[in-house]
Amino acid sequence: MNQKSTGTQGAAAGDVLLKVNGLQKHFPIRKGMLQRQVGAVKAVDGIDFEVRSGETLGVVGESGCGKSTMGRLITRLLEPTAGTVEFEGRDITHLGVSGMRPMRRDVQMIFQDPYSSLNPRHTIGTIVGAPFRLQGVTPEGGIKKEVQRLLEVVGLNPEHYNRYPHEFSGGQRQRIGIARALALSPKLVIADEPVSALDVSIQAQVVNLLDDLQDELGLTYVIIAHDLSVVRHVSDRIAVMYLGKIVELADRSSLYRAPMHPYTKALLSAVPIPDPRRRSAKSERILLKGDVPSPIAPPSGCRFHTRCWKATRICTTQEPPLIELKPGQRVACHHPENAEDQAPQDTQLLSAAREAIELVPVGRDEAPAGQGAAAAEPATGSEGAAAEGTASGE
Ligand SMILES: Nc1ncnc2c1ncn2[C@@H]1O[C@H](COP(=O)(O)OP(=O)(O)OP(=O)(O)O)[C@@H](O)[C@H]1O
Ligand code: SF4
Ligand SMILES: [Mg+2]
Repeated sequence: MNQKSTGTQGAAAGDVLLKVNGLQKHFPIRKGMLQRQVGAVKAVDGIDFEVRSGETLGVVGESGCGKSTMGRLITRLLEPTAGTVEFEGRDITHLGVSGMRPMRRDVQMIFQDPYSSLNPRHTIGTIVGAPFRLQGVTPEGGIKKEVQRLLEVVGLNPEHYNRYPHEFSGGQRQRIGIARALALSPKLVIADEPVSALDVSIQAQVVNLLDDLQDELGLTYVIIAHDLSVVRHVSDRIAVMYLGKIVELADRSSLYRAPMHPYTKALLSAVPIPDPRRRSAKSERILLKGDVPSPIAPPSGCRFHTRCWKATRICTTQEPPLIELKPGQRVACHHPENAEDQAPQDTQLLSAAREAIELVPVGRDEAPAGQGAAAAEPATGSEGAAAEGTASGE
């Protein structure tokens, strides 16, 4: 979608709203009676990006690559190990509870699982009205009236104010979560896999709702997904994460037209092409072999080298920095795709690299729509697909 005017005070459309520098979260691993630290899960390991007012940044990557941790760091639900988070030019990295209170109005989160993120003992009215009570804000006309208006905004019946979460389907519950997130007119909404727990047929409705609300309310989004097909239509720019790092960050059209990181290429190759006229242009899928390595001891050099079919010696020793290789396209790779120096000419591929992928002809092993990244997902990592089976539909 295009960038729109925000309608909020502060940052104008296109201004940097959120800026993240060197952000890290290492979860300590402790053992023994003394709970001595013996290691750390490097969930987010030094990421830099910015989000401009009015835009949607999509964040994609396989299960466990640190997407949710990143979302929790920027909403300050987690304390970073290192790095900074700036919101509207203000460093909020170490703000305390009282310092964060006004910020909590401006930055809201929509959670992955609409089943566990709503308190089953509270009515919808209480849930959606909670942000007003927590912030001590009384909207014009009272909380009930405002909650009913919000329910209408997200396409729910305002008469259902007194009902409980179990009376709603998965898609409807996610709408309730969206209404709650919008209650205080936030500037930035972080949506953590907002549709992955929903039935495929409902996913588009919820994504379209988010899109429409952005137009109406001038919102800025960070939308997290493990599937490129979910963020494709709503993102202005897309960040691809792998093992706690951003490996490519580009505007949507560049990323889909000419991905430069091999991992992005593999993820994209797994996305089914809906247009049958374009199907013939792509006759093979890249199927990554092997599991994602552990974030406790990530591979040396480029973290993707254990699964990359282009890996050379340098990839095992030197970490490629995320640098702008084309206008608006930042990539962390020694041998990027769609670039002049893409093929390692005078260097030798690692023997393991030659075995890193399997090329699967399109037609065989076709991934169903909405599960685009499945081909690049490790055997244990298709959490979203598993959760879909539990969705009740709308
Ligand atoms: N509180 C925690 N303590 C220890 N390790 C954690 C904690 N939270 C997350 N991790 C680990 O950090 C890594 C990144 O987790 P995270 O939930 O951010 O990944 P994700 O990309 O959101 O995955 P998914 O797609 O499955 O939601 C994982 O290895 C996870 O096990
Ligand atoms: S070519 Fe090397 S640097 Fe680039 S993704 Fe593959 S392993 Fe990493
Ligand atoms: Mg997650």
